[in-house]
Amino acid sequence: MKKKLLELEKNALKALEIADDPSELEKIRVTYLGKKGQLTSIMKNVGELPKSERPEAGKLANIIKSNISKGFEEARDRIVIGKGDQAAFLDVTLPGREPLRGHLHPITLVIKEMCQIFARMGFTVVKGPNVELDYYNFEALNFPKDHPARDMQDTLYVSENVVLRTHTSNMQVRIMEAQKPPLSVIAPGKVYRRDSDVSHTPMFHQLEGFLVDKDVSFGDLKGTLTSFAHQMFGRGTALRFRPSFFPFTEPSAEVDIQCVLCGGKGCRTCSHTGWLEILGSGMIDPEVFRFVGYDPEVYSGFAFGMGFERIAMLKYGIDDIQLFFKNDMRFLRQF
Ligand code: DAH
Repeated sequence: MKKKLLELEKNALKALEIADDPSELEKIRVTYLGKKGQLTSIMKNVGELPKSERPEAGKLANIIKSNISKGFEEARDRIVIGKGDQAAFLDVTLPGREPLRGHLHPITLVIKEMCQIFARMGFTVVKGPNVELDYYNFEALNFPKDHPARDMQDTLYVSENVVLRTHTSNMQVRIMEAQKPPLSVIAPGKVYRRDSDVSHTPMFHQLEGFLVDKDVSFGDLKGTLTSFAHQMFGRGTALRFRPSFFPFTEPSAEVDIQCVLCGGKGCRTCSHTGWLEILGSGMIDPEVFRFVGYDPEVYSGFAFGMGFERIAMLKYGIDDIQLFFKNDMRFLRQF
């Protein structure tokens, strides 16, 4: 058998060496390496040899197979490239490779979804500057200079009177200053604070919403936010309003939704309380109306503000906010 194999190797390599067109090459391949080819039939006989000879014969057959394959590839390169005939080996029946398709970032998806929900309720979408005057970010929202409420937001200053906006509430003042009631507006956008850990990044996204008209009540605020939560997290989602403080709303409330992961039973995500805080809200403070020239005796309104990252983390079950901005394709590809 050893002799047969060596003989076969010699013949095959010789044939490959003198072959000079693709169809001849293919014939050689079939003759020696094909399913019914000579090498294959010899290899089938290995099993009939005495047990002690089998390993050596098998090993030799494999070496010869790989030598012939290598010879085949060399001959193919020589013939195809030599003749400049790549097409001879182009198999047009193979399935194509699908190009990588781009898609929207998870935060963009959540921004779109939330804006659509509020737009359906009649809110107009506006955008505003990220580099903002202290006046719009703080002063006219009833945060006087040196007011302790400013400490809640670790502000990045551009200069003494110019900041990177710490929240989208600046849009309340900008829009009310420019328009007369009635109005209902949402303002999505980037905001900045000097903060970084698993639940904070120096840049994040907020949605501000506000509505001003005659006879607006806290009930209107509750109804609007309840409708939002039901559309975003499911119809039965319970809401809880907790008294809070913001300089630009009075009264103010922080709003929790029933934990979307445990349904309110208590789990790690909701710190076993059954509730998740999602936003700040309240009735617009008369002081803010005075800054923009509205008569607080005639008009009333509500406002709310929430973070898109927080909503996206709850919606998709993400426990580290930094993932949104690391640009790791293994994370981003999942949306
Ligand atoms: N601007 C607040 C913040 O970033 C959030 C907020 C609270 C916005 C209450 C509101 C509001 O419009 O009424 O912490």
